[in-house]
Amino acid sequence: MSDVAYALSMEHISKSFGPVQALKDVTFSARRGTVHALCGENGAGKSTLMKVLSGVYKEDAGRILVDGVVQEFAAPGQAIEAGISMLYQELDLAEDMTVYENVFLGREIMSSIPFKTDVQAMIDRTRALCVHYNFAIDPEALIRDLTLGQCQIVELLKALMRSATIIVMDEPTSSLSEGEAENLFKVVRALRQRGLTIIYISHRMEEVMALSDDLSILRDGEVVHSDRTSQMSVDDVVRHMVGRELKDFYPARNVALGAVCFEADGLASDEGIHDVSFTVHKGEVVGMAGLVGAGRTETARAIFGVQPLTQGSIRFKGETLRIKRPEQAIGRGIALLTEDRKRTGICTNLPCSWNMTLPNYERLGMKRLLNLSRERSLCEALGKRVRVKWSEPDAPASSLSGGNQQKVLIARWLMADTEFIIFDEPTRGIDVGAKKEIYTIINELAAAGKAQLLISSELPELFGVCDRILVMRRGTLVGDFITKETTPEQVMHIAAVEA
Ligand SMILES: Nc1ncnc2c1ncn2[C@@H]1O[C@H](COP(=O)(O)OP(=O)(O)OP(=O)(O)O)[C@@H](O)[C@H]1O
Ligand SMILES: [Mg+2]
Repeated sequence: MSDVAYALSMEHISKSFGPVQALKDVTFSARRGTVHALCGENGAGKSTLMKVLSGVYKEDAGRILVDGVVQEFAAPGQAIEAGISMLYQELDLAEDMTVYENVFLGREIMSSIPFKTDVQAMIDRTRALCVHYNFAIDPEALIRDLTLGQCQIVELLKALMRSATIIVMDEPTSSLSEGEAENLFKVVRALRQRGLTIIYISHRMEEVMALSDDLSILRDGEVVHSDRTSQMSVDDVVRHMVGRELKDFYPARNVALGAVCFEADGLASDEGIHDVSFTVHKGEVVGMAGLVGAGRTETARAIFGVQPLTQGSIRFKGETLRIKRPEQAIGRGIALLTEDRKRTGICTNLPCSWNMTLPNYERLGMKRLLNLSRERSLCEALGKRVRVKWSEPDAPASSLSGGNQQKVLIARWLMADTEFIIFDEPTRGIDVGAKKEIYTIINELAAAGKAQLLISSELPELFGVCDRILVMRRGTLVGDFITKETTPEQVMHIAAVEA
């Protein structure tokens, strides 16, 4: 095969951030009109490699060829000119603007009247592209009114409007519902059909195997394997990613349940939940299944005091609680790991250590004076426990890979030493090795008598980890099963089917 059959080649790319070498002599090529998957653990270097490709970072060494021609990207604009567009792991749209305004942001079509944009032309061209690709999106809708899946389509529209030929998708499905993800797969296949090259990053092995033609695996900044996907099994990929076999993915747990710890009775809020009642015992892990929009996150928000209860009550360790603000929930011993890391979880411009200790000062007896050495040693110990990859605890959270940011947030709640922990999609964007570590932590917390609620869209995870599984639909509970006595099919059916 001649070089030019490759839409893209990256050769001998190296990149360091201070003492951290994120990429070591990485070489990989993507064939035109294919989906090329990039796999690897959190921090392996996938996003960094793609940021080098899109001109966000300048490589220390190596070169990039597009259609066999060497390219220099000193800034993102140059990569875009060369036909490369990147859909970031964290979406990046102007929320108060419309779809078409975002699509044409910085590249507006001007009208014949000086200094005036041709709004109609921009709307028409956006609509034409939507029709061409069968996207159900109104060009005049505001971004803030769109679902995450639709926002992703807007990012794609931006790329397509700039005539991108290589599109990078960094964990595009990590916050999509199953239906939205299915839709995205159709779009990806349609793009490939039209000769575009897609670089696809995901931690979800099933979709990587189903969608990609070729697959490259990064480990610790190096390409350790690259082949046709059809030549590999999931086990092969995982072995290359983590450098060992992963046995007992869902570690066994044998914990006798204690007294009732948490009781929700008839909860309702203005975010659309009503009549939500359930209990969680000490040592118990209760799962919560449901489709996107079923009210699971809203239930967590109501319990945690983010959204006030309009009805119902909460009993915690035998006492009725009136929680009006998250601080009160934390003070009482309730924690919430939020699903939306970027908006409601991590402060990326603050050090990791601060991200861990912020809600915990009072608990740590550090209300007036911060004991820095105590803070540091705590952070180091907890960082080790969740195996976060950082240069040091004081590194800004923004310097961590997405999955490692999630581990910092988990460490935050381990530090808080709370008695009831709500995990909302805790393994989103987390690699397989780290997932297993999180399941182990959940087991340890259960053994220590903590009560836990695990909200997850991944049924295998709920079945692998939980004692009981609650099912939500349209804002209320429609099922409560002992895990051993039900099946994924039954849970899925109840979550999806109207009564
Ligand atoms: N701006 C930065 N400053 C310092 N270190 C960085 C920066 N960006 C990335 N790194 C480091 O480079 C390494 C690779 O990170 P990268 O984000 O590429 O990982 P990833 O494979 O995309 O992981 P994930 O699956 O968690 O998204 C990590 O050790 C990370 O901490
Ligand atoms: Mg990444």
